Amino acid sequence: MEINPTAKTLAEQGVTDAAGVVRLFDDVKRQFGAELEAKQSVSQWEELRNAWIGRKSGALTRITENWLKPSPPELKRAVGQALNELKAHVEAALEERRAAIQAAADQAALAREREDLSLSGVVRPLGSRHPLRQTFEEIERIFLSLGYSVVAGPEMETPYYNFEALNIPEHHPARDNMDTFYMAGPFAEGAQGKPGASPLLLRTHTSPMQVRTMEKQQPPVRIIVRGKVYRRDNPDATHGFIFHQIEGLAVDTDITFCDFKGTVEYFVREFLGPKVKTRLRPSYFPFTEPSVEVDATCVFCGGKGCNVCKQSGWIELFGAGMVDPAVYGFVNYDPKKYSGFAFGLGVERLTQLKYNINDLQLYFQNDVRFLRQFA
Ligand code: FA5
Repeated sequence: MEINPTAKTLAEQGVTDAAGVVRLFDDVKRQFGAELEAKQSVSQWEELRNAWIGRKSGALTRITENWLKPSPPELKRAVGQALNELKAHVEAALEERRAAIQAAADQAALAREREDLSLSGVVRPLGSRHPLRQTFEEIERIFLSLGYSVVAGPEMETPYYNFEALNIPEHHPARDNMDTFYMAGPFAEGAQGKPGASPLLLRTHTSPMQVRTMEKQQPPVRIIVRGKVYRRDNPDATHGFIFHQIEGLAVDTDITFCDFKGTVEYFVREFLGPKVKTRLRPSYFPFTEPSVEVDATCVFCGGKGCNVCKQSGWIELFGAGMVDPAVYGFVNYDPKKYSGFAFGLGVERLTQLKYNINDLQLYFQNDVRFLRQFA
């Protein structure tokens, strides 16, 4: 800003009459007007205000000091009047400008912050429960409603609980290295290397918890066991080397095959729907006698025959049976007094059947396009 004239006295500038004073003040007013015009922001405005009406070094202070105070008496009145007018003009113009700058800033902020209610909202994707978890919860709901309780047990087991106490003898094919994951160590029952010490294994089914539960409590027993199991199966559309089972066990006085059949039918109806019928097919498990496979009418064709059920109208659901009295011998239950039934459900396979999922591997691939279908 060029405010040089204010640094000199009137005499130094050769101003000797009232007309000269008026001209000089007009020049200064024009200069102020030009500078004011250029200021657009609050900070620029503040600079300008200090430059003009700042008490110590503002232009008006300099005019007072350099023009008014040293002016000859005949010009004092004209200078004083012109200075007052200039001061009033500068203050009013500054205030007007400040209001305009503020209004423009408010407008801009308003435009920036305006909510556009027609814009679509931010969609936050909701997670959902994994289909296997949903099956677990559904099965648990059904059996809890029948008075069962839910237990869990170790995934690393001893051969005793996984096999022997379930009446699976030493040379049974299920104990083969080909089917079971054995641990390199630690060893069960006795120190490593001692004769008879046997390696721990990853349980191949949830049935060991039948024995562990009966060891701990006397009948009545009504439990389901949820858990992960391991087998040396090659992964394919119906096999995993890790999968999940739900075991069921009911032992009491006077439990008959009718109780077993009624429970199984109730479960299948609740799980697959009221139209589904069940049938029991003879089978074999070392720890149940008699043993059965529970089949249901195909949920996809209603029993007429389709690709899923291989035109038979039936699909195999799970293995089950009356607890073999030999098992009671391992847990000191009196087989003459007590009887019961057990079943073992493959959670992946049941979920496949319920939702017509053609590949078991999909559960473990974390593909949201698959998982979203169960939300
Ligand atoms: C058993 O494991 C018995 N413990 C079941 C049982 C319990 C019978 C109590 C009687 C009384 P099985 O080997 O058939 O049985 O396996 C049970 C279920 O696990 C099968 O019906 C199937 O649904 C599932 N299953 C077996 N192998 C695999 C695998 N590799 N991947 C996924 N599911 C499997």
